[in-house]
Amino acid sequence: MTGELSPIDKAKFVAAKRACEYVEDGMRVGLGTGSTAAWMVRCLGEMVRQDGLKITGVPTSSRTADLARSVGIKVISLDEAKWLDVTIDGADEYDADLNLIKGGGGALLQEKIVATASDQMIVIADITKQVEALGAFPLPIEVIPFGWQTTKALVEETLISMDVLGRTSTLRLNQDTPFITDEGNYILDLHLHRIGNPRQLSLVLNQIPGIVENGLFIDICDAVVIGYGDGRVEVRDINAGTVESERIDFLDTDNLFSDMTD
Ligand code: 5RP
Repeated sequence: MTGELSPIDKAKFVAAKRACEYVEDGMRVGLGTGSTAAWMVRCLGEMVRQDGLKITGVPTSSRTADLARSVGIKVISLDEAKWLDVTIDGADEYDADLNLIKGGGGALLQEKIVATASDQMIVIADITKQVEALGAFPLPIEVIPFGWQTTKALVEETLISMDVLGRTSTLRLNQDTPFITDEGNYILDLHLHRIGNPRQLSLVLNQIPGIVENGLFIDICDAVVIGYGDGRVEVRDINAGTVESERIDFLDTDNLFSDMTD
């Protein structure tokens, strides 16, 4: 199966597989959302089924919950888990300080709550997610539907005094209707092009009534596992200040990934 995968999918797969080495017996694991995180859920599922790994998973979206259950991972709520040993999730962008933009899949709220309630957050990504400055990827913010157009106008006005290059925002759509998050909210995508001060922007955005949360993850990520299409992985650990490289073997993954949909 991996022989048929595109280089980008191979990169996501090896990053996910390497990140699963952070998971040990008995751990409570935050399960991210998105195509890279879906590889990780599948890998963990295989470890549960084949190696007898005993973990409980806290998913960051309804679709990750469905996938986790389908591969045999015991799913519990965050309130049942209370605190997590590790969360593994994808990202839309990461910078040299491992600050992130997340929310491309619309799950930023649960993702941020779960990652913040974890001893460690490990991001899995391919090298296309690496940026010098955050902001080329539109920054998602979750807003409540009540008065969303007023919130949008307030956000755009607020951006005038922020260190960003663009100031427009768009309501995320699912075909012709607003995209609805798992919490029943809307997503506004902010087209900022470059964010000069992500920490300040995150604080200011969260002061605006109507904004539930924004997709900037500041000082939350501990390490990024970067996968490459040829099987190489690089692990950058921000706390240890280390960068390690290795190669992951592609396994026969016909059964594991034949019905990948995310
Ligand atoms: C979902 C996310 C995802 O982790 C992010 O969009 C990356 O997704 P992918 O691995 O599919 O590129 O934040 O809300």
